[in-house]
Amino acid sequence: MTDVKPAATAGDDRAFREAMRTLAGGVVILTTWIEERPWGMTISACCSVSAEPPRVLVSVGHLTCVHAAIKAGNRFGVNVLGSDQKHIAEFGATPGQAKFLDTYLGESCLTEDTATPRVGDALAHLDCVVADQLEVSDHTLLVGDVERVTVAGDDREPLLYFDRSYRRVGGNL
Ligand SMILES: Cc1cc2nc3c(=O)[nH]c(=O)nc-3n(C[C@H](O)[C@H](O)[C@H](O)COP(=O)(O)O)c2cc1C
Repeated sequence: MTDVKPAATAGDDRAFREAMRTLAGGVVILTTWIEERPWGMTISACCSVSAEPPRVLVSVGHLTCVHAAIKAGNRFGVNVLGSDQKHIAEFGATPGQAKFLDTYLGESCLTEDTATPRVGDALAHLDCVVADQLEVSDHTLLVGDVERVTVAGDDREPLLYFDRSYRRVGGNL
């Protein structure tokens, strides 16, 4: 029988966290420039908003380094990671660690084609200009107009995050 737990309340974030553990999502490196160098932070709060015009939504914590940089530059990059890029996700998710991508990935993230840093070999890169933003609790929801898209076009699978661990796609149902 299904275990029905009471809904989370304002003081009960444990039930909320348990609920969100059940939600699988793709993993993205959100990129910006800091001190004129490429910087990338791991996020999973990223989704498509509309196709016409192409727009995406990301949710960024106020205290993160990317937050101030994106607000200042008014741009962000979305890099969709493949299942072979778990190490990049771990690099971009370590709190308080400098996340300069040129140090970690080398020159592959420096491209003259894109306005925001691109993770080489990401499944897709989207160059976004901030079109709208909304402050929600300790995060900012950023809506980005997608100016340029690069797709790897190979048959690698995406990296997923589910139940507090990185996963790969299991196959069609
Ligand atoms: C799988 C995963 C998804 C994450 N998603 C988000 C997210 O959507 N938004 C966010 O602000 N932080 C997210 N984080 C947390 C940041 O990556 C992490 O706190 C980061 O180290 C903060 O960077 P800072 O060192 O600049 O504070 C996520 C972490 C992981 C492991």
